[in-house]
Amino acid sequence: MNSRQILVTALFLFLFAAIGTALVAFTFDNTHERIAANEREALLRNLHVLIPPDTHDNDIFNDITKVTNPESLGTTEPATVYRARKQGWPVAAVLTTVAPDGYNGAIKLLVGIKLDGTLAGVRVVSHRETPGLGDFIDAQRSDWILGFTGRSLKDPILKKWGVKRDGGEFDQFTGATITPRAVVKAVKKALLYFEHNSQRLFASESTRTAVPAASSVQPVESAHE
Ligand SMILES: Cc1cc2nc3c(=O)[nH]c(=O)nc-3n(C[C@H](O)[C@H](O)[C@H](O)COP(=O)(O)O)c2cc1C
Repeated sequence: MNSRQILVTALFLFLFAAIGTALVAFTFDNTHERIAANEREALLRNLHVLIPPDTHDNDIFNDITKVTNPESLGTTEPATVYRARKQGWPVAAVLTTVAPDGYNGAIKLLVGIKLDGTLAGVRVVSHRETPGLGDFIDAQRSDWILGFTGRSLKDPILKKWGVKRDGGEFDQFTGATITPRAVVKAVKKALLYFEHNSQRLFASESTRTAVPAASSVQPVESAHE
């Protein structure tokens, strides 16, 4: 092989490597964007379901606050809390929490809690649990997650906030206890967090920087529990 052939071969190799790297980077970027877009879509869909428009008169997408509490909310990232108010009075909040100990890692949740501490509902925003085993937490796969609606720290009592396998009140799935256990634990922690922090959650200014819609301009009142 003469030096010209070596140069041509090296050039080809370089070209293939560059194209390969670009393709991997492009796919990675696209996948990330798609996951983020899917999460956004699930968020919008589910916020309206958990907090129906007729129960509040503020713009819940803009009336948000961010809180950081890894122990209670399952993530070191600031968690967004969406706040629903009627005539300025707090009605409910939706906490974006994480169950960090799913079978395949983190399960992102929306936990809607009314001011009296009862659950408006819970929805999964994203998860990587095994299809046919752990994915029954998804409302599109089964009704299991709907069983949280109306529950509170008094129903069931605190020590019954677990799956039946652990002596709790909530069903697990056949051959798959890890996923529902993680979700029940995360919901319980969110309820406890809300119980201790509801006043503060509703009192803080919205952290949304965008100009809010006119309908969202409401007096910030302290919680009246
Ligand atoms: C390939 C594979 C995937 C699994 N995926 C899940 C899952 O997504 N969620 C889950 O709770 N358990 C999953 N399991 C089962 C757990 O390893 C564990 O056995 C189970 O959660 C314990 O539940 P059980 O006590 O009801 O048997 C999976 C097991 C295997 C082998």
